Amino acid sequence: MTTAAELQALLAPLAAGRATARFDNGRADIVLDVTGLAPATRDALEADVRAAATSVPGVTEVRVLQTSERRVRRLIAVASGKGGVGKSTVAANLAIALAKRGRRVGLVDADIYGPSQPKLLSVEGIRPEARDKTMIPIPTRFGVPMLSMGGLVAEGQAVAWRGPMAGSALTQMVDADWGDAELLILDLPPGTGDVQLTMIQKHKPAGAVIVSTPQDLALIDATRAIDLFTKVGVPVIGLIENMSGYACPHCGEVSHPFGEGGAERAAARMDLPFLGRVPLEMAIRQASDAGEPPAWGNGPEAETFAVLAAKLDEWLAANGG
Ligand SMILES: Nc1ncnc2c1ncn2[C@@H]1O[C@H](COP(=O)(O)OP(=O)(O)O)[C@@H](O)[C@H]1O
Ligand SMILES: [Mg+2]
Repeated sequence: MTTAAELQALLAPLAAGRATARFDNGRADIVLDVTGLAPATRDALEADVRAAATSVPGVTEVRVLQTSERRVRRLIAVASGKGGVGKSTVAANLAIALAKRGRRVGLVDADIYGPSQPKLLSVEGIRPEARDKTMIPIPTRFGVPMLSMGGLVAEGQAVAWRGPMAGSALTQMVDADWGDAELLILDLPPGTGDVQLTMIQKHKPAGAVIVSTPQDLALIDATRAIDLFTKVGVPVIGLIENMSGYACPHCGEVSHPFGEGGAERAAARMDLPFLGRVPLEMAIRQASDAGEPPAWGNGPEAETFAVLAAKLDEWLAANGG
């Protein structure tokens, strides 16, 4: 005679604690928790569980109910006060470094004025497909699916793309079919424009990472970006100083044409965590231009981003898992 406990034990190795079984009068009722699984995985798991339960002597009918706690997908905004500080470079490489740590990450390139993720991630010219009006992110070689304003706006038309259009493009990308991604990294346009407004009103990020160069001017701009988040209660996870010092391509020695430690001092002054610095390095520019994100490799640049990703991961774990 089969019991619910026996059925449960049979299903345990298949469903790793996701199945709860009841057994009554020949009928097995199985509740399957598919939270966080991609649709294809869910159906495969259901088929396996169903087959296993059906093969048990005494079971004449099997019913499987999939349930899912809609786990919130967290948005992390990567922002800067002005353009050209390496925000996109940092966003792409942080996303990849987080994926290497086992996080399921998607990347949204919301920079309407200078979408650069398709190039950084080697998927230039590939347009995203849509299913039932829902966009499907473009897979990349680096374990991070991506959607870009670059795939939505024809080249050279960004200026015509104001207000509501930019905002609705952001919404389309955030609400795309990201599968089991638990995190979306948002590469924002510089400053505090329409995209930021829609983001804050509709897709409030869990936190923001601010990228700045060591120059004072960039820091003043960065302060404005920081204000935008703090005013609406989005925690600033921390500041990253990019192009921090110059790493000599020959000897590796780092010099500091713009002074040293400016962003770190600014972070301390504003009572914000300092996440770390990325040196100005020829190898980073070259790899980025070639669509080979430095975080993907095994070199010292990958290590730089791995350290930043570890800090971000620590923050994520401390703030909701
Ligand atoms: N740490 C760095 N070392 C060398 N070049 C960098 C570094 N960070 C960014 N760059 C280069 O600077 C340029 C601007 O970077 P990008 O990420 O596009 O900036 P933003 O998104 O802030 O406009 C790009 O050519 C990029 O390859
Ligand atoms: Mg950019």
